[in-house]
Amino acid sequence: MTELDSARVAERIADLRADINRHNYHYYVLDAPTVPDAEYDRLLRELSTLEKDYPQFVSADSPTQRVGAKPVDSFKQVRHSVRMLSLDNAFDENELFSFDKRVRDKLSLNELAYAAETKLDGLAISLLYKRGELVQAATRGDGSSGEDVTLNVRTIKSIPLRLVGDDYPELLEARGEVFINKRDFAALNEKQSALGEKIFANPRNTAAGSLRQLDPKLTAERPLRFYAYGIGQISSTQTMPSMHTALLIQLKNWGLPVSPETKCVHGIQGCLQYYADIAARRAALPYEIDGVVFKVNDFAQQEKLGYVSRAPRWAVAYKFPPEEELTVVKNIDIQVGRTGALTPVARLEPVFVGGVTVTNATLHNEDEVRRKDVRAGDTVIIRRAGDVIPEIVAVVKDKRPANSPEFIMPERCPVCASATVKMEGEAVTRCTAGLFCPAQASQAIIHFASRRAMDIEGLGEKLVEQLFEAELVQNVADLYQLKLQQVAALERMGEKSAGNLLAALENSKRTELERFLYALGIREVGEATARTLARHFGSLDRIRTATQEMLEEVPDIGPVAAKNINGFFREEHNNLIIERLLAYGINWPALETKSEFLPLQGRTFVLTGTLASMSRDEAKQKLQQLGAKVSGSVSKKTDYVIAGEAAGSKLTRAQELGLKVLDEAGLVQLLQEYL
Ligand code: IVH
Repeated sequence: MTELDSARVAERIADLRADINRHNYHYYVLDAPTVPDAEYDRLLRELSTLEKDYPQFVSADSPTQRVGAKPVDSFKQVRHSVRMLSLDNAFDENELFSFDKRVRDKLSLNELAYAAETKLDGLAISLLYKRGELVQAATRGDGSSGEDVTLNVRTIKSIPLRLVGDDYPELLEARGEVFINKRDFAALNEKQSALGEKIFANPRNTAAGSLRQLDPKLTAERPLRFYAYGIGQISSTQTMPSMHTALLIQLKNWGLPVSPETKCVHGIQGCLQYYADIAARRAALPYEIDGVVFKVNDFAQQEKLGYVSRAPRWAVAYKFPPEEELTVVKNIDIQVGRTGALTPVARLEPVFVGGVTVTNATLHNEDEVRRKDVRAGDTVIIRRAGDVIPEIVAVVKDKRPANSPEFIMPERCPVCASATVKMEGEAVTRCTAGLFCPAQASQAIIHFASRRAMDIEGLGEKLVEQLFEAELVQNVADLYQLKLQQVAALERMGEKSAGNLLAALENSKRTELERFLYALGIREVGEATARTLARHFGSLDRIRTATQEMLEEVPDIGPVAAKNINGFFREEHNNLIIERLLAYGINWPALETKSEFLPLQGRTFVLTGTLASMSRDEAKQKLQQLGAKVSGSVSKKTDYVIAGEAAGSKLTRAQELGLKVLDEAGLVQLLQEYL
């Protein structure tokens, strides 16, 4: 190679590295990507090819050199030249007040400026840059010395291997937190599950475990991220900003990512406001936090305040109530639903988590219990984040009592003792007795009476069970035969409430065909399908007599739903009940038929949070296919809010407005009804 060629290659390599580093900076630090992923990959490939062909130009700070280091036998110990401290905690407002008072007294000031930050739930790391190049990364360890995890840290893409610009100090030790985003964590577990590998319990432990892998290739496969929140040592020649928040901006300008939630607040009021704001947005933040941190902003004031043993006097962590707790599974019960589905439910020693006392956690189905291997007597990690239903995250296997038997799904329905079945390809086990099973029959009545079905006011779960136990009703038609005296004689009822119930029953008789169809509780016929059927066929008789083929011709009704609908109306006892209902006077206005009908036409949906089974875009597309409008913001006009994992302010707004909220399972069910 001539010198000219060599110079050209070197120049191209330098350009590529500069481009890639710039894109990284925009992506990870400024959170404003400049190029599509494909273009980024192309640049990286070109650089990698050039470096392979001209190995004399490879350098340790090249963006290609993140992975590839060989596994180590153990980690070297690294002494921290400036101790890595911890934070004092405040668990309630009083403790925060005392902190602020202590600080103000010591400085003889009335009000202070604080740097307010989120308390990321990951692990602390120290990054040493010499002449702009990352030369060492170490864990906190005991504060005085930690482990050298440089090779692993080099694989974290948001950590620059080389600082940006040319005004960085000769020596800079940046400190911050390594963590995993919630969405990345969910995707990681999905991948693990697909590979039949172990499921990780939470992002924090996974981040910590990933950083302590002896083989950097394994670390590289984990979606680790980094935010800087301070410094350790720095060249003494460097002119330092006088405020912590200004230092963070400086770090950002040197290419280190800093949390966008960081700001300067004034006095205790400012602190409380920041805490409330972050608490309200906690579920919607992309990463897990366990509180907020307040640091006296002025470095001169920090110095005056100094340290006590292992924590600075100038900072405090104001913690949120924990979202995860340990508790014991007393038992695994089986609930039988309206469709006969057997749902295992863990009965728990009551535990206060995520702001409420939790006593039950659904285990969904047999596969789920198997996957988590939950058994009676187990100590489990229970999680309740935001408004998401509580779930068992994992079992603490070391605490399992000896000889505890594995969970098995009962072969007989626990309510009616009929055989149970699990269809091939289905996760659910069902009782085969249909409406002869009291659990299914009473659930069917509760469904029939519900607000979106026949809307029988005052007929809730408790009363249905009472009526059932008193053998006053066995099926939905019996409701309309109830006599005042019979109802009044029930416990906790009187003439007045009995009269109200009979009036509500009378009221419910005037309904709509689609409500009536939905109320019948045909499998796979939710509200939307009921509406489609009503509008397509226009009359109950036409639906009852439709063949399976005719049903399948209806847009958005699949073969399974068609089979269920057809099967339902071929069943003698179902027809008898329908005849009786009509004879008691249930009626609805006649409808015009529409053949081209989109079932979600005129409905507005808002999607929020993360969905596990599909991207938000996919969900949007599917909803639009069904005629729905998908909007970005929640208002009174919104019909449904779909709240995925970690849904935040939109969910809160929906709840304030009393809108209908569906979780992911609800969305999937809705889509399955049509697609
Ligand atoms: S400052 C001298 N700021 O919390 C101050 N720590 O409980 C030392 N953490 O070891 C730390 N977010 O791992 C600081 N914004 C933040 C933080 C933060 C999370 C972690 C860090 C530290 C632990 C102390």
